[in-house]
Amino acid sequence: MVQGVREGRSLSDLLPRVPEAARAGTQALAFQVLRALGGAEAVRAVVAPKAPPPAVDALLVSAIALLWPVPAGERPPYPDHTLVDQAVHAARKRTPAAAGFVNAVLRRFVRERDALAEAASQQPVGAFNHPLWWIERLKRDWPSHWQALLREANHHPPMTLRVNARRSSATAYVQRLAAHGVAAQACGSHTVVLAEPCPVTQLPGFAEGEVSVQDAAAQLAAPLLLGEAGLPAGARVLDACAAPGGKAAHLLELADLDLLALDSDPQRLARVQQTLDRLHLHATVKAGDARDPASWWDGRPFAAILLDAPCSASGIVRRHPDIRWLRRPGDIAALARIQAQLLDALWPLLAPGGRLVYATCSVFKAEGQQQIDAFLQRLGPGGASLDPASPGHLLPLPDNAMAGPAMPDGFYYALLHRP
Ligand SMILES: C[S@@+](CC[C@H](N)C(=O)[O-])C[C@H]1O[C@@H](n2cnc3c(N)ncnc32)[C@H](O)[C@@H]1O
Repeated sequence: MVQGVREGRSLSDLLPRVPEAARAGTQALAFQVLRALGGAEAVRAVVAPKAPPPAVDALLVSAIALLWPVPAGERPPYPDHTLVDQAVHAARKRTPAAAGFVNAVLRRFVRERDALAEAASQQPVGAFNHPLWWIERLKRDWPSHWQALLREANHHPPMTLRVNARRSSATAYVQRLAAHGVAAQACGSHTVVLAEPCPVTQLPGFAEGEVSVQDAAAQLAAPLLLGEAGLPAGARVLDACAAPGGKAAHLLELADLDLLALDSDPQRLARVQQTLDRLHLHATVKAGDARDPASWWDGRPFAAILLDAPCSASGIVRRHPDIRWLRRPGDIAALARIQAQLLDALWPLLAPGGRLVYATCSVFKAEGQQQIDAFLQRLGPGGASLDPASPGHLLPLPDNAMAGPAMPDGFYYALLHRP
């Protein structure tokens, strides 16, 4: 897994290839390694300045990362001697010529752990376990918060649920969970945070559509788009980047809408239909490029549009520790260009008086505040108004007003009104 990520493949692509019985364990170990990869690579560079072949290096940095877990203070998953023995055993099987080298490096790390860890922490990638360009960008965007953001990104995320508003409430569902031996806390009218993550199959009523897994920050999109007054029954609404369907389903749980759920990825779109079926909700589900309305729009304007745009996902690195190692510095400008094209293409589809929510699960300003500032400038005076109640950037930090029993993901939200 670690070698694959270093070669540019995502864990979501790689993990399905692992035999099912070993998948959860493999994922847990891969997550732990990727949270500590910067430090482990820095240690390897101190102990062995010339990098060994990729398979050996992946094994080495994985073992170092598991011997020196992040976040600090977390217990290593195995005793030192077990880890070293198993790493050497794996090397003997797959790269026999390197077994002695792996053994020597790991034993030295175990002997000199404090000094080597200290040396690795002297440089930012080793200290924060993120690529340097990512650290520099956060420093520029958030001069007073960048260190806390990087530290928090290495913590384990909470498991948060959205209770189907058509079926139940957060307090009632917390009681139902308690009856099944699952500890949880209500956090808002339909949001529940579990004390410990668990498989969805253990959630009562999940298969029947009583509840869905969705972070608290992601749960802000639907109420923001609907507004306090709500939309009239049957209002035409577009979810322009809908897959896998979490926010589309939330909209339909809260209101009776004529919803078009669009996405350019037909495979991901299939998951939207599955989600809607599980929750007994209905929308028109369509494949199409939202930047090219001529190819899918029937010409009837929308009362509201949700643009949950493709982005760097820098706000959800806790859930996807591979993202930071997969992205390249140029990706942010490329994604920002697509987001701008999406905004420009979709705005004319909004009825006069209509509302558009622009959202990204990013903490980079280029995909949030700067994107919307530039859009408002392109439209010119009177083209659109930014609602003063727009949440703006929500940072995954302990002082986040939404933090409650668990810290939500990083998001950006803007609510725009068409005059
Ligand atoms: C952040 S995800 C959306 C998450 C979804 N709103 C939810 O809550 O489950 C972004 C989605 O945008 C889609 N996408 C990317 N470019 C697109 C385009 N040009 N037109 C439509 N969808 C696009 C991707 O396939 C991806 O599913």
